[in-house]
Amino acid sequence: MSKLLSFIPNDWTKQYDKERAWLENQITDIGDAVVKKLIREATKVRDNAYTPYSKYHVGAAILTASGRIYSSCNAEVVSWSESDHAEQSTVTKAVSEGEIKRSGRKFVRAIAVVHDGDSGPCGRCRQVIAEHANNTVIVVAKPNGKIFSIVSLKMLLPLAFTPGDLEK
Ligand code: THU
Ligand code: ZN
Repeated sequence: MSKLLSFIPNDWTKQYDKERAWLENQITDIGDAVVKKLIREATKVRDNAYTPYSKYHVGAAILTASGRIYSSCNAEVVSWSESDHAEQSTVTKAVSEGEIKRSGRKFVRAIAVVHDGDSGPCGRCRQVIAEHANNTVIVVAKPNGKIFSIVSLKMLLPLAFTPGDLEK
């Protein structure tokens, strides 16, 4: 058997259980009412999405460590790659509103994302969220308000490349 096989992580089941327990604590702390409010805010702002090309509306709302809520939507550009994604745009909005001064770099406590798909934030948005949280609660909900999934950032972005890596 190849010696390389020993480098394939064998503790992911344990890590998953840890993430589940972490999520349970976070959700209990944040409370159902605030999670529902995040979903409501993301749903509301989704209505403002500018999507002439994809027609795919996405809304996002972030709960910050200071207890504030910011929301934003996707906004497309004809050349595509310049388009803002809802999650990334919400992070930028929180930064521009001074959230780093209030809460520090790692201000994202939870994020709700509302769209029609059966997916979490895209890879780029996962990386953007990782800039502002070691870990965070990610709630994906449908436009009718029904929750599709609740996961942690660490579940979605294992082996994340983070600001801490530059210090090693
Ligand atoms: N979109 C987001 O807003 N967030 C994501 O992470 C996935 C994709 C937007 C970008 C584009 O306006 C539309 O959804 C279709 O890709
Ligand atoms: Zn994205």
